[in-house]
Amino acid sequence: MSNVKHIPSPVPGQATAVACSNIAFIKYWGNRDHRLRLPASGSLSMNLDSLTTRTVVRFDPALEHDELILNGEPAAEAARQRVSAFLTRVRQLAGISLAARVESANNFPMGAGIASSASAFAALSLAASAAAGLRLTERDLSRLARRGSGSACRSIPGGFVEWQAGENDADSYAFSIAPAEHWELSDCVAIVSRAHKTTGSSAGHPLADSSPLHAARLAQVNENLRRCRQAILERDFDALAAVTETDCHLMHAVMMTSSPPLIYWQPGTLTVMHAVQQWRRQGLPVCYTMDAGPNVHVICEVGAESQVVARLRELPNVLDVLVAHPGGPARLAR
Ligand code: PMV
Repeated sequence: MSNVKHIPSPVPGQATAVACSNIAFIKYWGNRDHRLRLPASGSLSMNLDSLTTRTVVRFDPALEHDELILNGEPAAEAARQRVSAFLTRVRQLAGISLAARVESANNFPMGAGIASSASAFAALSLAASAAAGLRLTERDLSRLARRGSGSACRSIPGGFVEWQAGENDADSYAFSIAPAEHWELSDCVAIVSRAHKTTGSSAGHPLADSSPLHAARLAQVNENLRRCRQAILERDFDALAAVTETDCHLMHAVMMTSSPPLIYWQPGTLTVMHAVQQWRRQGLPVCYTMDAGPNVHVICEVGAESQVVARLRELPNVLDVLVAHPGGPARLAR
């Protein structure tokens, strides 16, 4: 069954889509197959309603090559080529050969250090496939998005989403385990650095195999996935907090012990980590997780949100706090 709502496009060959970013409680780090982006393990995340990408794709016979406009500016050549390679996959699926113009914009501040590849490739998958005349199921859209950026496959379904590792291209896709309304969680993102990271996740995944700790993380990831899934289904915050921080620490241990090592944390990252642990000891239900960057996603139930945001804003090194709640699936827009 597909949750994707297909609405007729007002302009032939053109479609617009909006997709949420997501934050993983159990992380995706490392691939079994880099070409197909088959992950080393399953992962589990929550879509973030207020951190979205809106993308317009137009296949146009007048264009000689693909164009990419990012947040109103022509994109760097490397980004254009990555999008162009992705569009070629869509063209092959649809049996067309036209070049396309892609206009993509994030609604969150650029340079805030918030990863945008998940929302970007989810929105691109839906907009490009619809513009090319394809009507893909949610599963096939998720598989397509996975080829652009692994975590993007989790931004196709809505709410709380699991990406099953699968055995091959056909069965490695994400599905919703609970809708956004299931649990009123808050992600209070503490921005501690606005610097552009030096090693992006695409370049980072291949390094996972060089860490002696990678196998140790993978040995327990299925049990952690099971705990996380159960914590979400039962809305058990303490259980979610424990497994989320454990897997975050394990992933960053793998990153720090790969060759070359990837150390994404900045001083402000540790400031927030210690503060959150202290608040929890004092009885405030809260936990943290970090992706391939220094900013800290501080998770709590919505009832604790204003207190958590106020406390984060008082910490040294916290430049800003962005707040997001569970978000819905990728959708077509006008
Ligand atoms: O989808 P990618 O290639 O940007 O990788 C995402 C990796 C992490 O954000 C660190 C973890 C995750 O599961 O989102």
